[in-house]
Amino acid sequence: MRSVIVHLGKRSYAIKVGGGLLSRLGVECAQLKLGPRCAVITDDNVGRQFAKPALNSLAAGGFAPVLISVPAGEKSKCLAVVEKCCDQLAAHRLERGSFIVALGGGVVGDLAGFVAATYLRGLPFVQVPTTLLAQVDSSVGGKTGVNLRAGKNLVGAFYQPQLVLCDLDVLQSLPKREYISGLAEVIKYGVIYDEVFFAQLERNLPKLLQREAATLRAVVARCCEIKAHVVGQDETEGGLRAILNFGHTIGHAIENSSGYGRFLHGEAIAIGQVAAAKLSCQVLGLPTHDVERIEKLFARAGLPVKTKLNPAKRKKLFGAMRLDKKVSGGEINFVLARKIGRVVWGQKVPSNLIESVLV
Ligand SMILES: NC(=O)c1ccc[n+]([C@@H]2O[C@H](COP(=O)([O-])OP(=O)(O)OC[C@H]3O[C@@H](n4cnc5c(N)ncnc54)[C@H](O)[C@@H]3O)[C@@H](O)[C@H]2O)c1
Ligand SMILES: [Zn+2]
Repeated sequence: MRSVIVHLGKRSYAIKVGGGLLSRLGVECAQLKLGPRCAVITDDNVGRQFAKPALNSLAAGGFAPVLISVPAGEKSKCLAVVEKCCDQLAAHRLERGSFIVALGGGVVGDLAGFVAATYLRGLPFVQVPTTLLAQVDSSVGGKTGVNLRAGKNLVGAFYQPQLVLCDLDVLQSLPKREYISGLAEVIKYGVIYDEVFFAQLERNLPKLLQREAATLRAVVARCCEIKAHVVGQDETEGGLRAILNFGHTIGHAIENSSGYGRFLHGEAIAIGQVAAAKLSCQVLGLPTHDVERIEKLFARAGLPVKTKLNPAKRKKLFGAMRLDKKVSGGEINFVLARKIGRVVWGQKVPSNLIESVLV
């Protein structure tokens, strides 16, 4: 097992990465001196496979867990489901000192984290991420929240977990498309922070695609280390944390303008990162060779690297980009790369240039 610490003073916590960790959930929670009551929040898909082992482990650790299951999918990330979860917590009489376990992908993590942040003005919570995206990204860093009709993640709180338990075994049952989508965030860490890691991904991609245990452990742990380091320096996105948004300005606009569901998040940000690399070439002189390496790695992983845009779609995409949270005073802010492993944020890019890299 590998352990990574997120250094945030009194709110510091460990991310543990390894095989068989779900069966250690109870022991790990006992070490945190939580309890005795807790609620496991999960979705119907994940619950079918992993609720029992999670509940058994908690019971063996001396806890009295209850299960709250929500329908799988982004639709559950809403205030109505927050209310349902809170009603169930109240019905089960969870009180101060009780804790919440988020067992699932990013949807469950964001939802259960927000419930934990707000129920009784805050209960401790533990993340047990079950998708690759959730293990390397959403479970770490304390961003919790839900969507409104007006847009994604508009209601939320920064609220850090007490522990993140990344059981690599659970990734074996993840549908291939979901797994590959998570690889887009993995590759992102190489581009924004660590050229050596990027080169390792180039070498080890076949093993990673096969979900080989040792490769997965090293990769998930390195991603968590990078995210922990970034979040440890800038918890609430005043500066450095923005680098995690590499490829996301265009990526979010693609998700938005093509209707949620057509592209998975990782697919959209793969296209967004390749476009951002091309912009970086023009604006900051990122070598063409680096642009090619980036594009090739995404393509080899099985991710899309471009999208066809007719004039109507193009208009929609630019409209969506202007609504993005990263827009200030009408100018679109980008994270751009000087070289692989080194990026800068807050780069203003004229829209004709953005258009030129999207063809
Ligand atoms: N908080 C953050 O910092 C942050 C960062 C990135 C993304 N997010 C959020 O994360 C969400 C996306 O998360 P996601 O991609 O994990 O999607 P998800 O939670 O919807 O999971 C994807 C699908 O896989 C299923 N699943 C999960 N684990 C499984 C397993 N081990 N085996 C089989 N099936 C499994 C789920 O039931 C679901 O159907 C979005 O809402 C996004 O906004 C948050
Ligand atoms: Zn992302």
